[in-house]
Amino acid sequence: MDLNTLQDRFGATSAEPVVGGCSGATVVRLARGPNHLYYKAGPGAGLEADRLAWLNGTGFPCPQLVDRGNNWLLTTELAGRDASEDWPAADRPAVLAAMADGLRALDQLSGCPFPSPFHGAGDAVTHGDYCAPNVFIDPGTLRFCGILDLGRLGTGDRYLDLALMYKSLRGMNPQYGGLPAARRFVELYGGDPDDSRIEHYITLDDSGDYMP
Ligand SMILES: Nc1ncnc2c1ncn2[C@@H]1O[C@H](COP(=O)(O)OP(=O)(O)OP(=O)(O)O)[C@@H](O)[C@H]1O
Ligand SMILES: [Mg+2]
Repeated sequence: MDLNTLQDRFGATSAEPVVGGCSGATVVRLARGPNHLYYKAGPGAGLEADRLAWLNGTGFPCPQLVDRGNNWLLTTELAGRDASEDWPAADRPAVLAAMADGLRALDQLSGCPFPSPFHGAGDAVTHGDYCAPNVFIDPGTLRFCGILDLGRLGTGDRYLDLALMYKSLRGMNPQYGGLPAARRFVELYGGDPDDSRIEHYITLDDSGDYMP
């Protein structure tokens, strides 16, 4: 759907494509009245809408599902800035700690009806792509604001999300300091940075067989 059609369909006054992401999904930021909404379209949108609807029911911080259709969803804007943006050096330790806090809170939810697509034992609610661009932090308080990009959310092994953030911090977000930051994140969460499941889940993720 082109930008003008999207704008008209949702009664928006502007529509800007959001560049980035590797899922191949189309993401567009729409202005409607004083608010912004996000339209996301792609083959995983139906799975993501189901998971978002469940997470909305728990009260966990994440975008609210406003509308959905065949392979698309429309959500409210999540407050804060994502952790992959440039953060002042003095704020980075607190951003790391906030990402660990957010993950602990997510894992402690219960009653998730979806299994994680990653095989592995565990009863944690896992995000499935817990990397810096999908985690939002309040730039004023430096506290966790929420998560998005939820197509792989499901019950599984808590080391899955630890592994994916470890990967994100080790090689993809050098502002945090690379490997020591990846290890620190796991420790802040309360995990063991030498647990063999970390490399195991990174290898599975790198295989590309788990796209939503
Ligand atoms: N509801 C929202 N509120 C704020 N920002 C959003 C919202 N939805 C999308 N975005 C922005 O658009 C970016 C891309 O959206 P999203 O992460 O859902 O898709 P993606 O990155 O293409 O998927 P993947 O990470 O699987 O490649 C996000 O990192 C975020 O910056
Ligand atoms: Mg994303």
